[in-house]
Amino acid sequence: MFDPESLPYYNPETERKVAVVTGGNSGIGWYTVLHLYMHGFTVYIFGRNSNKVNKAIDEIIKQAKKRFKHFKKEENDEKTKERYLGNIYYVHMDLTDLKSVERACKKFSKVETKLDVLVNNAAVMALPFEMTKDGFEIQLQTNYVSPFLLSLRLLPLIEAANGRLVTLSSLGHNLQQVHWSLDQNFNYKPNMIFTWFRYAMAKTSVIQFTKMMAIKYPNVLCLSIHPGLVMNTNLFSYWTRLPIVGMFFWMLFQLVGYFFGVSNEEGSLATIKCALSPELTLDKDNGKYFSTGGVETKPSHIANNLDNAASTWIWTIHELRDRGFDV
Ligand SMILES: NC(=O)c1ccc[n+]([C@@H]2O[C@H](COP(=O)([O-])OP(=O)(O)OC[C@H]3O[C@@H](n4cnc5c(N)ncnc54)[C@H](OP(=O)(O)O)[C@@H]3O)[C@@H](O)[C@H]2O)c1
Repeated sequence: MFDPESLPYYNPETERKVAVVTGGNSGIGWYTVLHLYMHGFTVYIFGRNSNKVNKAIDEIIKQAKKRFKHFKKEENDEKTKERYLGNIYYVHMDLTDLKSVERACKKFSKVETKLDVLVNNAAVMALPFEMTKDGFEIQLQTNYVSPFLLSLRLLPLIEAANGRLVTLSSLGHNLQQVHWSLDQNFNYKPNMIFTWFRYAMAKTSVIQFTKMMAIKYPNVLCLSIHPGLVMNTNLFSYWTRLPIVGMFFWMLFQLVGYFFGVSNEEGSLATIKCALSPELTLDKDNGKYFSTGGVETKPSHIANNLDNAASTWIWTIHELRDRGFDV
């Protein structure tokens, strides 16, 4: 597995680095924030629940201090003396509400002039069919449309930093194997089956979005990720909290995790590598897809096809414009 120790460390006093991590209060996002913070970043968690995010911030700071103490005791060399913790702040943002996304961007732009890394991490998975108040299917908006708007609104700040855009997709995007068209009304029964296809559609769109961003904005390093099968996050909670059958799903997910899974922290390593590694460059890596631990991987042929990516891009621009959001 990739070692985050090999990545650059920054001193926030002399070389300020800024990151935004959506959904950084839980699961993979929690460890993503921890590592960025330990590498000296000022990290903004964009999240929807202030209690959860503030609690996570306290826990992350505690964990980082514990690791630093241990680390300094073990290896008291020149290199470790040059390590500094960053800062962590909370910004309210609910991805099911496009206006909330805009408000978060405005708030952030008032306090920061540049953004080194935007991590579109937050998502929901396999929920029952539901339309948001903006008129998008809930998985499509949370996992793709809102991150699209967020990324384009923050783009000038990312460009100002020669920064990076890292967006979490999923191995599950491979379920989208036949003809490509973004279908908002993919509401067939049983939900237990078709909800996974809606997740796949949203996560395929994320890979296409990353490819299009790399073409349209070649000065920003844009990467998408499958973090690994990480079964102990809250992503599965809709299924495990179902009455009676929830226990069955919990056991099923634990079994999958036991044989094929990685820990929450290991799940964050692909993101950390894509966010920080100097080995990844604009010339050779822009638009690429990485999987567990930051290994370059080929996405599905549907996600890889640039005609599909262009049609998804145009669809999204029109849908946002129809709702009063010009990008
Ligand atoms: N776990 C896996 O096996 C796996 C596999 C492939 C891909 N991924 C991807 O990895 C990423 C992280 O997933 P995870 O497993 O760490 O899941 P998680 O623990 O459920 O974390 C998801 C985060 O997204 C936030 N979120 C959800 N809906 C939101 C909304 N409307 N507005 C703002 N924030 C919202 C959640 O906030 P709350 O705490 O407030 O709900 C939470 O912080 C996701 O993109 C997921 O698709 C995960």
